[in-house]
Amino acid sequence: MCGIVGYLGDKDAIPILINGLKRLEYRGYDSAGVAIVNSDGLHVVKRKGKVKELKCELEDTVLRGSIGMGHTRWATHGIPSDLNAHPHMDMAGRISIVHNGIIENYDLLKTVLEKDGIIFQSDTDTEVLVQLISKIYSSSKMTVAEAVQEALREVVGTYGIVVVSADEPDTLVVARLGSPLLLGIGEDEYFVASDASPIIEHTRNVVYLDDGEMAIITRKGYKIIRIRENHVIHKVVERIEFNLEEIEKGGFPHFMLKEIHDQTHSITDTFRGRLLLDTCRAHLGGIRDYLDHILNAKQCYITACGTSWHASLIGGYLLEEYARIKTRVEYASEFRYRNAVVDPDTVLIAVSQSGETADTLAAIRKGKEYGALTVGICNVVGSTIARETDCGIYTHAGPEIGVASTKAFTSQVAVFLLLTLQIGREHALKEKEAEKICSAMANISDHVKTVMDMSDEILEVAYAYKDKHNFLYLGRGLNFPVALEGALKLKEISYIHAEGYPAAEMKHGPIALIDENMPVVVLAPRDRTYDKVLSNIQEIKARKGKVISVTDAPTKQLISLSDHIITVPKVHRVVFPILATIPLQLLAYHIAVLRGCNVDQPRNLAKSVTVE
Ligand code: G6P
Repeated sequence: MCGIVGYLGDKDAIPILINGLKRLEYRGYDSAGVAIVNSDGLHVVKRKGKVKELKCELEDTVLRGSIGMGHTRWATHGIPSDLNAHPHMDMAGRISIVHNGIIENYDLLKTVLEKDGIIFQSDTDTEVLVQLISKIYSSSKMTVAEAVQEALREVVGTYGIVVVSADEPDTLVVARLGSPLLLGIGEDEYFVASDASPIIEHTRNVVYLDDGEMAIITRKGYKIIRIRENHVIHKVVERIEFNLEEIEKGGFPHFMLKEIHDQTHSITDTFRGRLLLDTCRAHLGGIRDYLDHILNAKQCYITACGTSWHASLIGGYLLEEYARIKTRVEYASEFRYRNAVVDPDTVLIAVSQSGETADTLAAIRKGKEYGALTVGICNVVGSTIARETDCGIYTHAGPEIGVASTKAFTSQVAVFLLLTLQIGREHALKEKEAEKICSAMANISDHVKTVMDMSDEILEVAYAYKDKHNFLYLGRGLNFPVALEGALKLKEISYIHAEGYPAAEMKHGPIALIDENMPVVVLAPRDRTYDKVLSNIQEIKARKGKVISVTDAPTKQLISLSDHIITVPKVHRVVFPILATIPLQLLAYHIAVLRGCNVDQPRNLAKSVTVE
């Protein structure tokens, strides 16, 4: 979603804000802007487009100031335009706001404010909030912070906001409900941001705001209060552990390619200290205190969105097959509004790279309402989902910046392998089978490296199909979610229409689309589905479709039927989905680059979706 950054200290705020916005740009890139307060008053510079365009515009100004805030937008209300860009100001030009979230009752509030003679400049819900704050502020003796607090009590919706004012040039007011914000505590300087990436080059000490909290930051310090209850709260200052290099491109042309390559170590980072080879077991410290509860649960729901949902589908297959737990996998956006049969005997696993996705968070809250035990599988340490679930497992994939998720997916699958092993060994999973699974997991890094070396081979396939308008991806069992993920990667970053299907379902519809112009990517591991998948390939060839097979067993028959074969190392069937996903990530990447697309910031998408 939108990215927010704020600064208060003794340095020039603009370079800090621009640098911060660049780091946050993966959250939204429709428009960008900054507000600076100095002795001349409040100044807002904003424009449609990327942060680099804002930066160019600011280079032509003499604007300086040591307090300010910036915003990079993912449009919800109002088209991307200069006027709809944040920060927004009140009519008097004295108060300014940046906002991430949605004000649901903005229409009602706007009608009342317009009756009072307020003229709006933009189509955004955010401007309503700043005009409301201004109205309260100007008609009372309140401070800006008090006016913000009062206004927020009238608001229905979600927000992460920063407010500055010309009248209080040494104060940043920050508030959160549903959209993440954290404070960075430096030496006589303070930072605010939607996530830690703009902060870590300045300080590693942070305070996470929770929902319903606001912070008033001045040059003398900061105070955190509950918005509704109005009492002061004291929060722990936490340390951020990740390094700056992890959020830089490291010589790669795109974050996505860097993150695809990170998989040579990120999957083993997920396993580190948790995979116990000598006993063929796994130990996940984050769920230790709840293990009995999990082992005795009657059913498990897994909920997530997007790529994380695909990883969850694999998790569902694994848990049912090897750990013999009744498992359902559901989109969080569906689960949250449905009356699912969930009770205290249910374990609800929520999977999220960012740990901030609004639907997944709502699903967790719903699960808690029903008394379910909630388990988070998150990548971002300290994220809202990580903090709101009863217990959890970090994926440890490292920061993921490219909007199209890659290494987070394979690490989520890796966590499900660990979980399956840990629970399975207490239930039905025999030592012999566990031994095979463990050894496949332990050797994965070398196999990932082998697949990474196939990048040029995959580039050739990309050349052959880059101008196609449609793609089909097929897989069975554990590899059906891989087909879904391959198709999602391609459509997200290359804008080619792509569908993932269970291979056998092809004949119930998609087969009608197959002709010589339809490339079909088929996941064909040498497992119990192999012969069935070969039959599906025959059906595609009979209709002149182009077949790109991903296999670990290039038999003569498969070679003769395929137009292209991508052969990954032979591995245990539970590890094949991880290995087979990587060529599909590379295929999507190469096709997108060849088509001239912006792979790290695809149109209309955002990395972290903190609104419904
Ligand atoms: C957005 C991102 C996807 C991601 C999904 C779920 O749509 O663009 O890459 O898979 O959100 O995000 P989460 O952070 O919950 O995994």
